[in-house]
Amino acid sequence: MMTVKSIAVLTSGGDSQGMNAAVRAVVRSALFYGLEVYAVQRGYYGLINDDIRKMDLRSVGDIIQRGGTILQTARCPEMKTLEGQQKAAENLRKRGIDGLVVIGGDGSYQGAYKLTQQGIKTMGLPGTIDNDIPFTDVTIGFDTAVSIVVDAINKLRDTMSSHERSSIVEVMGRHCGDIALYAGLASGAEAILVPEVKFDLQKVSCRMKENFMNGKKHSIIVVAEGVGKGENIAKELHDCCGIDSRVTVLGHIQRGGTPTHNDRILASRLGDFAIRKLLEGESGKGCGIIKGELVTTDIEKIVNSKKQINMDMYQLALRLSQ
Ligand code: ADP
Ligand code: F6P
Repeated sequence: MMTVKSIAVLTSGGDSQGMNAAVRAVVRSALFYGLEVYAVQRGYYGLINDDIRKMDLRSVGDIIQRGGTILQTARCPEMKTLEGQQKAAENLRKRGIDGLVVIGGDGSYQGAYKLTQQGIKTMGLPGTIDNDIPFTDVTIGFDTAVSIVVDAINKLRDTMSSHERSSIVEVMGRHCGDIALYAGLASGAEAILVPEVKFDLQKVSCRMKENFMNGKKHSIIVVAEGVGKGENIAKELHDCCGIDSRVTVLGHIQRGGTPTHNDRILASRLGDFAIRKLLEGESGKGCGIIKGELVTTDIEKIVNSKKQINMDMYQLALRLSQ
């Protein structure tokens, strides 16, 4: 039994490296299985405003290595209204499109869930650098973003060691500290401040002072943006123990550039998996990877859960940062 005949794909919310590789995989896999394939430009905004075009094999050529998203992305408040959701579903139906693959973060998953309620068969792919989607070990873009942060910290270390200074690196992550945690552990940071774990800045500054007295030549503190501004942390450290820090805010640099091979492979596997699951009759699911296995989970369950920080990794980073 053919469960879907025609599908569309869109990217939504904050972009992430590897979204293009995911679009390519969705399009090529769907064509391989004989489906008609459409792309929606600018996420839900394009869906509501009918910016939809047909795709062929060549439409996704030369994009696997590119950052950003060729489909562009947008934030669309209208999608949160019932009228917006009905219009979006109608624009798909009038072309005979019965399936939709949404590549984005948790907000985008909410939109996909609402479209499922409008009778569209949906699949979500976790596209966000934040790694904040539950029921997948990793999201598309996270690996590249962490690599960018690690590379920046390597450079900061050089100059901080020369001057025997402390460096505060503010990274993305409003609610999820995974970029800070993974990049901090990978670069040997002295402290990692994340929104999920309470910390005492006085203790952090005393430890840094001791570290300098015990011969450390620099000190790296990685701060997730959800914790607060790096500049404020620097001021508090100075007021506590007279520590002289320099602050670097990495910002949107973390969301750009060529995706790592890990992100390209993850995106390729998940994009193809989403199509195969739609063909098997699944809908209203988010795709992910858990312990190396590709899995689907109800979107409803995903949007009602919160990703937990890996405390073993957090403790490990603390033990190794002495
Ligand atoms: P991300 O997907 O990266 O988390 P956003 O939270 O900005 O990014 O969400 C992207 C888009 O998803 C929003 O602009 C909106 O169009 C749609 N969206 C978010 N929340 C909802 C919701 N509760 N219902 C329907 N659509 C939503
Ligand atoms: O994609 C998620 C994210 O990277 C957050 O970590 C960050 O706070 C946010 O996007 C910033 O996005 P924008 O500038 O597009 O609103």
